[in-house]
Amino acid sequence: MCGIVGYVGSQSALDVVLAGLKRLEYRGYDSAGVAVAADGGLAAAKKAGKLVNLEKALVDRPLPTGSSGIGHTRWATHGGPTDANAHPHLDNAGRVAVVHNGIIENFAALRDELAERGHRLDSETDTEVVAHLLAEEYSACADLAESMRLVCRRLDGAFTLVAVHADEPDVVVGARRNSPLVVGVGEGESFLASDVSAFIAHTRSAIELGQDQVVELRRDGVTVTDFAGNPADVRTFHIDWDASAAEKGGYDYFMLKEIAEQPKAVADTLLGRIDAAGSLTLDELRISDAELREVDKVVIVACGTAFHAGLIAKYAIEHWTRIPCEVELASEFRYRDPILAARTLVVAISQSGETMDTLMALRHAREQGSKVLAICNTNGSTIPRESDAVLYTHAGPEIAVASTKAFLTQLVACYLVALYLGQVRGTKWGDEIHAVIRELAQIAGQVEQVLETMEPVRELARSLADRNTVLFLGRHVGYPVALEGALKLKELAYMHAEGFAAGELKHGPIALIEKGVPVVVVVPSPRGRSVLHDKIVSNIQEIRARGARTIVIAEVGDEAVVPYADHLIRVPATPTLLQPLVATVPLQVFACELATARGNEVDQPRNLAKSVTVE
Ligand code: G6P
Repeated sequence: MCGIVGYVGSQSALDVVLAGLKRLEYRGYDSAGVAVAADGGLAAAKKAGKLVNLEKALVDRPLPTGSSGIGHTRWATHGGPTDANAHPHLDNAGRVAVVHNGIIENFAALRDELAERGHRLDSETDTEVVAHLLAEEYSACADLAESMRLVCRRLDGAFTLVAVHADEPDVVVGARRNSPLVVGVGEGESFLASDVSAFIAHTRSAIELGQDQVVELRRDGVTVTDFAGNPADVRTFHIDWDASAAEKGGYDYFMLKEIAEQPKAVADTLLGRIDAAGSLTLDELRISDAELREVDKVVIVACGTAFHAGLIAKYAIEHWTRIPCEVELASEFRYRDPILAARTLVVAISQSGETMDTLMALRHAREQGSKVLAICNTNGSTIPRESDAVLYTHAGPEIAVASTKAFLTQLVACYLVALYLGQVRGTKWGDEIHAVIRELAQIAGQVEQVLETMEPVRELARSLADRNTVLFLGRHVGYPVALEGALKLKELAYMHAEGFAAGELKHGPIALIEKGVPVVVVVPSPRGRSVLHDKIVSNIQEIRARGARTIVIAEVGDEAVVPYADHLIRVPATPTLLQPLVATVPLQVFACELATARGNEVDQPRNLAKSVTVE
C-alpha cells in the first residue's frame, strides 16, 4: 500500500524518485505523483492511474531539475483515485509538499479548523491538512524538521509523512508512526522510502526508523529525533540482497520468478539452523529455553497467505509438542478480548513485517504480558522490531502481490519453531527431530521436481480460462492448502474460488457441484494416516458422481486415486505434515497461468496491495 520515496543529493531528484517509485509499484496503488525543489520553488506533478500516466504527463510538462524531491504511489483510502486526490499535496502558497501513507484519524477536525483560518483545501484526502499545518508552523519557525515535529504531535492515527519545502531545497523531512519508512545512507546523498527496494540500486546501508520519529535528510547525512526533538538512537543495518534480487531476471512476471525461486528460498531458510550433529539451533530466537518450557498455549496471528501458513503450523505444533495452538486472523484477534497470559506464546507471521492488523495484534498480546515471536521476511520492518523474538525467513524480496515463496518459507519456519519447542520441552526425541529435519532438507529438491513437471498444469489452467468457479477440497493439512489454492485464484484470476474441508462437503458445499465444475482435491499420502486418504478418495467419488471435473493432487505411487481423477497432478512423497510444501506449488502455477490466460495483471492484481498498512 502507498509507496513513498524521498531523495537529497547530487543526482536529478526526479529521476531517482521516479526509479524508486517504479520499484515500489508492487505494493499496489492507483495514482502517483512527485514534487521537486528547484529554482527557489516547488514543482509537482500527479496523475490518477499507473506510473506510466505520470511519466506521460512529465513528458508533456517537464519539471525542472532539482536535487531534492519526494514521490508517492497512492492506494486510495480517503477520496477516490483521482488526479486531485493523488499526492503530493501542497499548501496554498505552493511552498511545501507532502506525501503520506496511513490514515490521519482526526483530519476532519483539523480540516474544519484550517478552513476557519482561511485555508482552501482542494482534495478529499486526509493528507492535505498536513501540508497546510506544515506551512503554518513553518511561517513561525522556518525549520521544516521542527515544523514536522510540531504537526505530528497534533495528528492521531497511523502515518508516514515525507515533506519538502521550497525554502530548504537541500532537505527532505520524514516522520513515522506505525506505517513503514526506511532511510538509505549513501555517499553524499540520502534516501527515504517505504522499503529498501526503492534505493537498493544506490546504497545498501540503511537505518530503521522507530515509532514516533522524525528524520531530517541532507546530502551529508541524517538526523533522527523523536517528536519532541530529542535525539534518537539510530540502528544501521546492511541490506544483504542486491538490486538484481528485486528485478524480474528474464521472467515475464515477478510471480513466475518467485515461484521458481522456491527451492532456494526453502533451502536458505533451513541454512544455519541445523548443527553438525543434526540438532536444531535457533540462535536468533531470543526467548530462553526456560521460557519456552513454560509455554502452555500457542496463538498464531496473521493475515492472508500468512494466515494459511499458521493454519498448517497448528497441526505440526500440536502433534509434535502437545501444546494447544489457536490460529486467528489478526484483524479479528484483539477485538474479541482473547485470553492471553505470560505463558502464552504468540506467533505473528508476516512476509512484509508491516501488516497493520498483525502489528496491532502483537501489540495487544504484549500489553497482556504474552511473549511474541515474529516469523518475518523483511529485515528492518516493524513487526520483528516490536516482537520479543524473531525467526527470519530467507525468501529474499517478494515483489508479486500474491505470496508464493514467502509462504513456503513461512511453513519451514513454523516447522522449525514446532520442532524446537518439541526439542526443548522433550516432547520429541532427538532422533525423531533429526528424521523430520532430514525430510525438510529433501524438500527443496522435491519442490524442484514439482516445478519441472508443471506444463500439464499450465495447459489445464488455460483450458479453464472461461470458467466462473473452481472449488478446492482438502483434509488435515490439505485443508489450509485448499484455502490457499482458492485464495491464489481469487487474487489472480478474479474467479469465484472456495476451499473446503472435504469432510464438510456433505454439510453444504456439495450443493455447489454440478456438471463440469472443476474441483481441485488435495489428497494426503496413502502411507501412515491412510484413513485420511481413504476418506478423501470417497469424497472424490461423491463429487464425481455429481458431475464434477476432478483435478487431483496426489503423491507419486498413489494408484487408488487414478480411476477418479479427470486430471492427475503428481507430487513427490513426503510425510503428511510436510505435504503442503509440495502440494501448494501446482496451485500457485495454476492460478498464475489462469490469470495470464484471462489477461489479468499477474504481479499487481486489481484492488490489492502487497503490504496492507492500514487496518
Ligand atoms: C496482503 C498480500 C497477501 C499477504 C497478506 C499478509 O493481503 O496481498 O499476499 O499474504 O497481505 O501480508 P504479510 O506481509 O503480513 O505476510
